[in-house]
Amino acid sequence: MDHSAWQKREKEENRRLRRLLGKVLRQAGLPPGDGRSLQILNLACGECREAETLVQVAADVQATTVSAAARPSAPPEIRLVGADIREREIQHAAERFASRKGVAFEFLAGDASQLSHHGQIGGAFDLTFLRHQNYWHDPRLWRRIFAQGLEKLRDDGLLVITSYFDKEHALATAALEKAGAELVLTERHDQSIALATPGKSVDRHVAVFRKKR
Ligand SMILES: C[S@@+](CC[C@H](N)C(=O)[O-])C[C@H]1O[C@@H](n2cnc3c(N)ncnc32)[C@H](O)[C@@H]1O
Repeated sequence: MDHSAWQKREKEENRRLRRLLGKVLRQAGLPPGDGRSLQILNLACGECREAETLVQVAADVQATTVSAAARPSAPPEIRLVGADIREREIQHAAERFASRKGVAFEFLAGDASQLSHHGQIGGAFDLTFLRHQNYWHDPRLWRRIFAQGLEKLRDDGLLVITSYFDKEHALATAALEKAGAELVLTERHDQSIALATPGKSVDRHVAVFRKKR
């Protein structure tokens, strides 16, 4: 595929992801917060190709859930932290997504199963996102990554995974529930784009979790 075909493909995948996330985050109830700030953690994000999509969709959903009376006149300050163990991918993300007024992008090359080593990340995220989690590649590692993603959430925050494969989605969902997450919803994406490997497609499934109360 040439560069412009890739760009077109990525744009379409992001358009579909935005529609999917908009729907499930509204259904699950993204925390309204104070309407002033919104923090998103994208773990194992690779090049974080969905960075702008996440910022836009989370801000849109939050804007519709904060009551008109409580809504501040200025849009929220948004912070997106993306982390992946691959330095090259993170470098690409950092080159591509520059912070601007009202939106801060931070990209971290490191092990997402050991976020405590990166104190600058902080906590109290509204949303933790793991796109195309890779649970069956190394279940023990991914259980630790899931636990870190949950720990970094505010009490009413949401953790969202997407998966390439049916079976991997079921395994990851069960592992998250075992790690103390409550499953809010899981859904087969009806506009998922098929990939060459049989049974594999882009954001084939999505599941939303919150911390057990
Ligand atoms: C299936 S890819 C998904 C990448 C990206 N989220 C996407 O949807 O294109 C899984 C990602 O997990 C990352 N990964 C594997 N082990 C990791 C770890 N210990 N900490 C952070 N990222 C890790 C890989 O580098 C890879 O980018």
